[in-house]
Amino acid sequence: MGILNRAESTSMTVTDDVPSHLQGNYAPVFDEVSAKDLEVRGSIPLELDGSYLRNGANPITGESAHWFLGDGMVHGVRLREGRAEWYRNRWVRTPFYDEPTKPVIDLENLDFDSANSKANTHVVRHAGRILCLEEGHVPWEISEELDTIGPHSFGGRLDGPFTAHPKICPLTGEMLAFGYGFLPSEYLTFLRVSATGELVQQKNIDIPAPVMMHDFNITASRVVFMDLPVVFDLEVAITGGMPFSFQPDNGARLGVMNREDGDAAVQWLDVDPCYVFHPVNSYDVDDRVVIDVARYPKIWEAGSSEFETRANLWRWEIDTVAGRVTETQLDDRPIEFGRVPDNRVGLEYQFGYAVGSKRDDSDPEAGTIVKYDFTSGDSFTWDLGNGREPGEFVFVDRPGSTDEDDGWLMGYVYDRSEDRSALLILDAAHPASEPIAEVLLPQRVPFGFHGSWMGT
Ligand SMILES: [Fe+2]
Repeated sequence: MGILNRAESTSMTVTDDVPSHLQGNYAPVFDEVSAKDLEVRGSIPLELDGSYLRNGANPITGESAHWFLGDGMVHGVRLREGRAEWYRNRWVRTPFYDEPTKPVIDLENLDFDSANSKANTHVVRHAGRILCLEEGHVPWEISEELDTIGPHSFGGRLDGPFTAHPKICPLTGEMLAFGYGFLPSEYLTFLRVSATGELVQQKNIDIPAPVMMHDFNITASRVVFMDLPVVFDLEVAITGGMPFSFQPDNGARLGVMNREDGDAAVQWLDVDPCYVFHPVNSYDVDDRVVIDVARYPKIWEAGSSEFETRANLWRWEIDTVAGRVTETQLDDRPIEFGRVPDNRVGLEYQFGYAVGSKRDDSDPEAGTIVKYDFTSGDSFTWDLGNGREPGEFVFVDRPGSTDEDDGWLMGYVYDRSEDRSALLILDAAHPASEPIAEVLLPQRVPFGFHGSWMGT
């Protein structure tokens, strides 16, 4: 099953009583491998000096109640001087590593140990630390060799949730973030980490209900929260899966806040009920804010935490003076995992990249990499071939480049016929071109979530 095709795959639900999120390339791997000097097809650009790290859920017991609830495992490839120097995969050694059957959520009092993270969703580097993130708890730090260092609470200042999707501002070096929780006092907290890694602001923000807020948006002057109606649901929670359900009656709104003024109020603007896990990017245009997102019309109705619908590219244009949001669908193909160059986050941009479905039906489960040109309105695809299923691809800029798309796209691809995985490197400036390099990996890399290129 392809990463974009969970709508179909989950409706089948089981084969031999194994949930779909544990089958095929969703199935966990159990060996922690260290391999050197990997086989490469093509040639790795000499400028690529660093590591590609990607996090994902890999349940240590082999079982989990939902795809999102497995234990974090990071898969990394080190590139240097045209060689693939090493591949490693390591579980993040959270408390679940030693006690894998402990409950994820304490339903008795909805309180938690803030270090009690699955640490499975993203891995980012900021202020010299590599942080494995999961949105319900504090980050977990790992080394460049993927060994666990421990929970990172910013010197004890953070004792609550920290999003898996902080935004590192390319203008200031700050890491802007938020946390969400289940108690009214912590439904939403804005967090600001200085460029040198100090947690310098924690600001509670009122929202009506405890919602799953997976990601958010920054611009050069603002942050924008997405209060969308996937609401904590105790009845669903006791079933052990994702404790949320789609409740459109809760309404849907975007919260725009000046990011520099610590006393700034939040301007809330209504949008049509929907869900967005991931924006592509966002930016200011004077009094307006433009946000491009992968938008689901709904998810998780009636307590089902399956993926009944798929996301399409939409644009929200917020007019902060008129207090209005214009919502426009930009593309009709399913996409997810949108990314932009790290140096364009929160800034006006031309190119975005995402995982998309194939346009033909030769292999509905295979994915493509899509490049959107937001200036011309065009889009382009890399068809990776039947039987090849990509996860998120990140953009890596060529050192010294001036053109926004002068660089590479990089991510893991699963080859169904060979039952093996590779790190694929594409030329971002030339859509549909053959991969520049394919690093063959010594073991299958299960479908996961998010990653980062960490250049030296
Ligand atoms: Fe995510």
